[in-house]
Amino acid sequence: MRKTIACAVAIVAVSVGVSPFVAAQGPDEHGSLIYGVKLPEGYRDWKLISVAQENGQNNDIRAILGNEIAIKAFRENARPFPDGAIIARLAWRYQSSPRNDSVFPAPQSFVAGPPTNVQISVKDSRRYAETAGWGYGQFEDGLPTKNPAVVQSCFACHTKLQKLEANADYVFTNYSH
Ligand code: HEC
Repeated sequence: MRKTIACAVAIVAVSVGVSPFVAAQGPDEHGSLIYGVKLPEGYRDWKLISVAQENGQNNDIRAILGNEIAIKAFRENARPFPDGAIIARLAWRYQSSPRNDSVFPAPQSFVAGPPTNVQISVKDSRRYAETAGWGYGQFEDGLPTKNPAVVQSCFACHTKLQKLEANADYVFTNYSH
């Protein structure tokens, strides 16, 4: 009986369709704090939008990937992004590679080291109406960060760009054809 009720609740939850864009992956079913954003299934296979490298405390190298809806918007330079667009930012420690350098005449090779975290931006203008249609999440080892300050900082910082560039739709990265 209990199983039947649980099943019915699950079916109702699915048919109500809180958000069709963020499929669950991994053990944490609740997703990110504040937004409930989950690691989208298959994001590691998404197409490349661009790369970035940050020095200072972050000292990382990043790949920015998008689902099909996001990629289409980037390629057509369409802003604001349509609902369903998801952007994933993967980062790794940025380190020199003595191994690669051993084949070069002088040290010159820097590569992606251990992964640090994955950040996800999801466009859903109804669900995230209070944050200009964007929901955010940060994941370490596949799990949402437990630090609410990290999640609170996402929109606060991306808003700074929006104030400088009204057409950016809160997204820094540009797509090069
Ligand atoms: C202090 C400012 C700042 C904070 C805080 C911040 N971001 Fe960003 N974000 C940036 C900048 C600048 C870029 C582009 C350069 C880069 O990736 O290093 C960026 C890039 C991104 C991208 C790639 C798409 C884009 O908008 O360019 C995603 C996805 C992203 N951030 C998500 C998040 C999430 C999720 C959080 C919170 C967990 C977050 N960001 C917090 C400044 C910030």
